[in-house]
Amino acid sequence: MNPQLSEAPLIGVDAIQQRTAELGRRISKDFAGDEIVVVTVLKGALIFASDLIRHITAAQRLEFIRARSYQGRRSSGAVQISVWPECPLRDQNVLVVEDILDTGRTTAAILDRLDAEQPARLEYCALLDKPSRRERPLPPGYVGFTVEDHFVVGYGLDYEERYRELDAVYTLE
Ligand code: IMP
Ligand code: MG
Repeated sequence: MNPQLSEAPLIGVDAIQQRTAELGRRISKDFAGDEIVVVTVLKGALIFASDLIRHITAAQRLEFIRARSYQGRRSSGAVQISVWPECPLRDQNVLVVEDILDTGRTTAAILDRLDAEQPARLEYCALLDKPSRRERPLPPGYVGFTVEDHFVVGYGLDYEERYRELDAVYTLE
């Protein structure tokens, strides 16, 4: 059977925009004007990051990571990284932007590999958090919304590459 998109969004456009602006303000304040290397994790965080960076007042450089761990609705476990920041990260203030923290494997692997480059500061910001499925402990980060154990799509998040373009977050049942 084909999974069914929820009729109403789980998190609506206004809530996402409000929360994103709030996160941007907090990040701007916490980094106190220092330049930030914003590392967006493709593809899922693309849309969230494009909104978030416009609410961050500090100077920014934009870099990207492409990470894959998911097949269909289940994590395959192993994390594959195929795109990596081009600028040196040593002594830089790095902010990783993620779509969702699920098992935590992807973010843990990314943070480990970034940490090895010895940035001055390493933080992350995720639109969504599904703490009930966590398998890897993560340091505290900036989080937009905590969600129950639903599979969610929209606003960048996909199911088999579909639904990323939706302007809000929906559940897939
Ligand atoms: P983790 O490594 O298990 O934390 O999974 C992280 C990645 O799996 C995310 O960056 C998403 O691409 C994908 N993912 C996890 N949960 C969902 C979901 O509910 N909807 C869409 N993608 C998800
Ligand atoms: Mg995905």
